[in-house]
Amino acid sequence: MVCFRLSPVPGSGLVVLCLILGAISSYALELNLTNSKNATCLYAKWRMNFTIGYETTSKSNKTVTISDLGNATYNGSICGDDQNGPKIEVQFGSVFSWTVNFTKEKSTYLIESISFSYDTNDSTTFPDAKKKGIFTVHEPVAFRIPLNDIFRCNSMLTAEKKDVIQHYWDVHVQAFVQNGTVSTKEFLCEKDKTSTTVVPVTPTTLPSPTTTPAQKEKPEIGSYSVNNTNGTCLLATMGLQLNMTQDKVVTVINIKPNTTHFTGSCHSQTALLRLNGSNIKYLDFVFAVKNENRFYLKEVNVSMYLVNGSEVFSIANNNLSYWDAPLGSSYMCNKEQTVSVSGAFQINTFYLRVQPFNVIEGKYSTDLAQDCSADEDNFLVPIAVGAALAGVLILVLLIYLIGLKHHHTGYEQF
Ligand SMILES: *[C@@H]1O[C@H](CO)[C@@H](O)[C@H](O)[C@H]1NC(C)=O
Ligand SMILES: *[C@@H]1O[C@H](CO)[C@@H](O)[C@H](O)[C@H]1NC(C)=O
Ligand SMILES: *[C@@H]1O[C@H](CO)[C@@H](O)[C@H](O)[C@H]1NC(C)=O
Ligand SMILES: *[C@@H]1O[C@H](CO)[C@@H](O)[C@H](O)[C@H]1NC(C)=O
Ligand SMILES: *[C@@H]1O[C@H](CO)[C@@H](O)[C@H](O)[C@H]1NC(C)=O
Ligand SMILES: *[C@@H]1O[C@H](CO)[C@@H](O)[C@H](O)[C@H]1NC(C)=O
Ligand SMILES: *[C@@H]1O[C@H](CO)[C@@H](O)[C@H](O)[C@H]1NC(C)=O
Ligand SMILES: *[C@@H]1O[C@H](CO)[C@@H](O)[C@H](O)[C@H]1NC(C)=O
Ligand SMILES: *[C@@H]1O[C@H](CO)[C@@H](O)[C@H](O)[C@H]1NC(C)=O
Ligand SMILES: *[C@@H]1O[C@H](CO)[C@@H](O)[C@H](O)[C@H]1NC(C)=O
Ligand SMILES: *[C@@H]1O[C@H](CO)[C@@H](O)[C@H](O)[C@H]1NC(C)=O
Ligand SMILES: *[C@@H]1O[C@H](CO)[C@@H](O)[C@H](O)[C@H]1NC(C)=O
Repeated sequence: MVCFRLSPVPGSGLVVLCLILGAISSYALELNLTNSKNATCLYAKWRMNFTIGYETTSKSNKTVTISDLGNATYNGSICGDDQNGPKIEVQFGSVFSWTVNFTKEKSTYLIESISFSYDTNDSTTFPDAKKKGIFTVHEPVAFRIPLNDIFRCNSMLTAEKKDVIQHYWDVHVQAFVQNGTVSTKEFLCEKDKTSTTVVPVTPTTLPSPTTTPAQKEKPEIGSYSVNNTNGTCLLATMGLQLNMTQDKVVTVINIKPNTTHFTGSCHSQTALLRLNGSNIKYLDFVFAVKNENRFYLKEVNVSMYLVNGSEVFSIANNNLSYWDAPLGSSYMCNKEQTVSVSGAFQINTFYLRVQPFNVIEGKYSTDLAQDCSADEDNFLVPIAVGAALAGVLILVLLIYLIGLKHHHTGYEQF
């Protein structure tokens, strides 16, 4: 845990800061490079670790792991000029150095390459190294990012070359920062876009992306149903808005019910509602039964056409858990709710009501519907209140302890 002595005045504020920083991590690297006018030209915050293999004089192989990158210096990092691109240089002691350089193109910039050097002459870090000298590995990265976007990758990026394995994660970087203001528009790495598993993210000090929500009107409400031989077996009423992100471009589409075709199937343990339309090849909602007494939305499978008709966007996730309600009832949510299928595809629903099982006489069950606002009342509020209370408790405790300490030193002085 690291404490930053920010002010010489002791007080609760200082202590709390220590705690918070300790809870995050001591190893995040951060660089806020400013130009001669004191305006930010390059911003980076990231985490990394390295594993280096080397041969010893006794012909065995050893590995060295560097993960505590606490006391880094950033000498040599530059904003760049007409001749040279921007560059981040990081030194860890005298043994390791790490460099990444950037170049600018017309409307994009490039994270060009990463170099990592280590000096095996240092016998404390590399005991008994057979080959002594400075070794360098180059990693051509070539990430292309739109100008004025900040690159983000919370997922783990791994590069393995020669004897060195490099891991990078929680990466935020923007070169060629415009007007000294770090962008809030994030350009995600592929892994962040597609990862459906949530990567543990340490909070960063970056302003949260407040991309102006493209004010899009609400979708019309559609009524969908599926029949089997016994009549209607699935009912759904909802306004649907699709939000996809592809190559950093966000496309939001409202589904028009009167030009959307629907079909599906009903089984005892699963039910399918499939929509299609002019730009939707298919949009599948798969429901499943769990514990023999509840249903939920388990899977969404989507394939969309581009403007010119080529199939471009397909995503499936069969590990969802939304719209959970008792069998024999329906799930209802009047307010806007989001089904996050992947980092790159989400469905916003409005005035949702679904009953994928046990539909009798083509009507929604008269049993009490599971309402999404009930979820909040039962679940979120106590957590929020609990968290707030815990926070207050810790603060009170701290102030009390500091008070004790002051008293104590006071007595010693007199
Ligand atoms: C970077 O430094 C500048 C100048 O000190 C400051 O105005 C800006 O808020 C800092 N940005 C971040 C993201 O820390
Ligand atoms: C590097 O960090 C990753 C992610 O935290 C971790 O899984 C891995 O074990 C670390 N490697 C080393 C050598 O510390
Ligand atoms: C790097 O910067 C630190 C402080 O900013 C300084 O003490 C050190 O000498 C510098 N190292 C090199 C190699 O220039
Ligand atoms: C970036 O670094 C690589 C490897 O060190 C080097 O080959 C390349 O010329 C550098 N590019 C710029 C623009 O400095
Ligand atoms: C930077 O400032 C200039 C002039 O004030 C403005 O025209 C430009 O749009 C700004 N760029 C960004 C990315 O904010
Ligand atoms: C139709 O209803 C009958 C009687 O309720 C039932 O036995 C049969 O399994 C149902 N068929 C389907 C396809 O659900
Ligand atoms: C489904 O069955 C109901 C009667 O049970 C009928 O009114 C309705 O038109 C049917 N829908 C479709 C799409 O066949
Ligand atoms: C669409 O998705 C993007 C990226 O997840 C998000 O920033 C944006 O707010 C979403 N827009 C809507 C209207 O849901
Ligand atoms: C669909 O609904 C919209 C708005 O209600 C209407 O303007 C449009 O003509 C309808 N299209 C068809 C094919 O019915
Ligand atoms: C939806 O698919 C059906 C067949 O599966 C097709 O007949 C229909 O034309 C499609 N509707 C649209 C709007 O593409
Ligand atoms: C979902 O899509 C995948 C890939 O296109 C396909 O293999 C799978 O069968 C689909 N699942 C459903 C329920 O349609
Ligand atoms: C689709 O259109 C885009 C531009 O509108 C074009 O760049 C792309 O080549 C087209 N794709 C196909 C398969 O026609």
